[in-house]
Amino acid sequence: MGHGIAQVFACAGHPVAVHDPVPEALATVHSRVAANLARLGLRDDALGRISVHEDLADALEGAAFAFEAAPEDVTLKVRLVEEITSIAPPGVVVASNTSSMPVAVYTPRAVGADRVIGTHFWNPPYLIPLVEVVQGEQTSTGTVARTMDVLRAAGKLPVHVRKDVPGFVANRLQHALWREAMSIVQHGVADAETVDLCVKNSFGLRLAVMGPLETADLGGLDLALNIHEQILPFIDRTPGPLQILRDKVAAGELGMKTGQGFLPWTEETAAAAHARLADHLIAVLAAGNAPPEAPTTT
Ligand SMILES: NC(=O)c1ccc[n+]([C@@H]2O[C@H](COP(=O)([O-])OP(=O)(O)OC[C@H]3O[C@@H](n4cnc5c(N)ncnc54)[C@H](O)[C@@H]3O)[C@@H](O)[C@H]2O)c1
Repeated sequence: MGHGIAQVFACAGHPVAVHDPVPEALATVHSRVAANLARLGLRDDALGRISVHEDLADALEGAAFAFEAAPEDVTLKVRLVEEITSIAPPGVVVASNTSSMPVAVYTPRAVGADRVIGTHFWNPPYLIPLVEVVQGEQTSTGTVARTMDVLRAAGKLPVHVRKDVPGFVANRLQHALWREAMSIVQHGVADAETVDLCVKNSFGLRLAVMGPLETADLGGLDLALNIHEQILPFIDRTPGPLQILRDKVAAGELGMKTGQGFLPWTEETAAAAHARLADHLIAVLAAGNAPPEAPTTT
């Protein structure tokens, strides 16, 4: 995510300084961004605006914004956000790209909480328009406005999430769907391939142009009520992760990166899936389904 976020701002004309404590990750930032630009058919001028830094303080020198995209680990995020806020001067916005954590979880107890904010980009960040901008209880409205502005100017679609809830808006929706998808497999209703086939060839096709609430209005809320009366009592409501997911992780079946998840993967099929997704997103965006005007913050 980090190199993709760097690419977004470099393509918008900003100088971007990338820090990563892992040398191999730092060494491949330019080649990974170059591959993305080539796929998009874009000139590689943006590469010259990206610098890489082994030292965090060096990377923060002269920055207006700091976007952290370290692994989704609470202790790590807390330590990193605290470190950034202690190094970067008060005017620097400190944004976290966490997928799930409320701002309150990683906001330092010390001074400077007014400039800490959540910015949830979607993968790949240079293709998916949405960025959820999450306002914590202590985040100032000025920080929200500056963050929305810089994202909008970089061509993203920022939305203001006004309550500091886990998962924000879109990941709550996405993971409600994933839980039910996994539950269907766990209970033998259908296999993983069939579940994905069902989604991709039904409501998945229309989701990009008609959201769930528009679709509910289209079908009629009386129908929605009748269906909910029938179905909701049977939808999985297990409060934590499902057993099938726990078992797969315990068995080392982590998905594409280990060759087996809900489905089997080879290097070739994984690369083909990545390419299929990127090509689809590029085609959809090129066909004029570019992000609509982002709503303004209040
Ligand atoms: N992958 C996705 O689809 C996705 C989507 C949206 C948000 N996110 C969130 O983005 C964050 C990063 O996810 P990812 O998939 O890019 O993970 P990743 O493991 O691919 O990359 C994380 C990078 O952070 C580096 N890192 C480790 N410790 C660090 C530190 N102290 N300071 C700076 N960098 C450090 C690692 O070396 C690695 O290069 C997570 O919070 C994740 O939840 C991921």
